[in-house]
Amino acid sequence: MASEQSQSNGRAPAPVERQYTYDAWMRSVGIPVYTGFYIADTREIELAYWPLRGCQAAFIQLAGQEGVSEALVTEIAPGASTPPLKLATDEIVYVLKGRGVTAVWGCDGQRRTFEWHPRSMFVLPRHTYREFHNMQGDQPVRLLHYNYLPLGMSVVNDPDFFFNNPYDQAAEHFLRDTEFYSQARIQRQEGSNFWGYRLALWSGNFFPDMGAWDKVEANTGRGAGGGTIMIKFPGSEMSCHMSMFPARTYKKAHRHGPGRVIVIPGGEGYSVMWQEGQERVVIPWHEGSLLVPPNRWFHQHFNLGAAPARYLAFHPPMQFHGYAEKVEDRARDQIEYPDEDPWVRQYFESELAKRGLTSLMPERAYQDRDFEWKPSLTTGS
Ligand SMILES: [Fe+2]
Repeated sequence: MASEQSQSNGRAPAPVERQYTYDAWMRSVGIPVYTGFYIADTREIELAYWPLRGCQAAFIQLAGQEGVSEALVTEIAPGASTPPLKLATDEIVYVLKGRGVTAVWGCDGQRRTFEWHPRSMFVLPRHTYREFHNMQGDQPVRLLHYNYLPLGMSVVNDPDFFFNNPYDQAAEHFLRDTEFYSQARIQRQEGSNFWGYRLALWSGNFFPDMGAWDKVEANTGRGAGGGTIMIKFPGSEMSCHMSMFPARTYKKAHRHGPGRVIVIPGGEGYSVMWQEGQERVVIPWHEGSLLVPPNRWFHQHFNLGAAPARYLAFHPPMQFHGYAEKVEDRARDQIEYPDEDPWVRQYFESELAKRGLTSLMPERAYQDRDFEWKPSLTTGS
């Protein structure tokens, strides 16, 4: 009755606090939290010791990640190891630099161990313990972790539930597979159709080198003659994709939902991001750079290098994908080359000119919306 009374007196109701449980917890940890639109080099940012993970670490929460996905950079000192950590959610790990070994085990106590090196990617299933070991005595290791903890803590708003949970039934598909991290388990599913793309879907728990992976398929709808690999992690809703596109070309602008974290395994270029009708943000990148396209912001990727460039995008939960990844939404969520602001082409050509290079974009691509790109990076799969 009190609230009804205050409203009838013309006073506004108290505002609903919009603070995610995850954000309050993240800020309470006491390590750096990086915000903004991009990280120039994840291999160089300052970290601080986090006892829970037993190593140096920093959170990355760029615009568009809030409440959806966690990105965390950790560093393991030369020759050092992290203590066992059990996490209740699936987590993807990408190796930013260094070489090492991970041991993973569940309630059966059987340790699955595997080695990794720069640009390796693997998944750590929910309810498993994991330890990381730096195999090099003279250089630190840096890892990028990606998970859905922000969303998880909105559902169960107790961080201990995720880090100190006595439930010990690790994911069933992990427990039954002693060769869980065998590279040979990567499988190509014929005829799969991922969010409207007719691309092969690869399934695996360990990918040895995303900087060398060349089994990509033509993704002509997004332009530039590029190729893409779609990856789904077995027994998990987590997924990612990596796109490669040729030197001195650029992709079409597009937009979609929030929470997608992009890290660069190789190449040199920049991305442009903007909210419809608003100012553009230009993001230079190279290996180790990280960016997040904010929710429904257009973004577009440009290769300024002499070699193909690649970007690896970790996907948010499917609920957040938006619709722009589907070909049928092209008109609303993708800008074809003939329709783009002339600035896009001018800026690209001026950036190339600074390097003594010229664009390899075919003139016809700017005139014909249905211009068919000849795939140039597909090496088969
Ligand atoms: Fe995108």
